Amino acid sequence: MIPKWRHASYEPPLVECVRPFPEVRDQSTPGKDTMYQSVATDPAAGKAELYGELASQLKGLLAGERNAIANAANFSALLFDRLPDLNWAGFYFMDRMTGGLVVGPFQGKPACVRIAVGRGVCGTAVAERRTMLVPDVHAFPGHIACDAASRAEIVVPLVQNSDVIGVLDLDSPMLGRFDREDQTGLERLAAILVEGSDF
Ligand code: SME
Repeated sequence: MIPKWRHASYEPPLVECVRPFPEVRDQSTPGKDTMYQSVATDPAAGKAELYGELASQLKGLLAGERNAIANAANFSALLFDRLPDLNWAGFYFMDRMTGGLVVGPFQGKPACVRIAVGRGVCGTAVAERRTMLVPDVHAFPGHIACDAASRAEIVVPLVQNSDVIGVLDLDSPMLGRFDREDQTGLERLAAILVEGSDF
C-alpha cells in the first residue's frame, strides 16, 4: 500500500510559520504578519537601546515554545541578523557524557565540536563561571580558532539553578568589537533564554 504522503493526489496540509507579535510585525506587506521581520536599527541608537529591542524580540520568539534547541537556534539567528560585525554566534552546551562542551545551534562557519572545560575562551568561561570579554583573541592564551577571521570574542555562561549548562559565544572579525555594554546586554538575553526554555 502506498503511504498517504506518497500518493500523487495527496496534498500535505500547509503549515504556516506565522506567529505575529507587535515588535517585529511586517509593515511592508499589508495584511501579512510574518513571524520575524528584521528591522534596521537607527544608526544613532545606542547599544542599550539595541539590546532592549533584542530582549523584546527574543521574548517574542520564545513565546509559547520551551524547546531549548529550537529557542537557542532562533536566538543565534536573531543575534547574527541584528548585531553588526559578527562572524559567528551560537552555543556550546555541557555534555553529560563527557563533562565537556559540545557545539549547539549557531550561525557562521562550521566550528569545533567539543571543547574541554578550562580550554579556550569557552571552556575558561565555564571553569571561571564568568563572562569572558576578549578584545583580541590572539592575546588570549589557549584561544581555539574555529574561523581564522575571528579577532574578538565574548563568551557568556548560561546558568540555571546555579549550574553552568553551556555558553553563548559570539565572534567578530573586528578587534575590540565587544565592550561592557555588550556584556550587560548579552547576559540579560542569555538569562531570558534560560528562563524561557526547558534545558
Ligand atoms: N574561540 C572559541 C572556540 C569556539 S569558536 O569561536 C566558535 C574558544 O576559544 O573557546
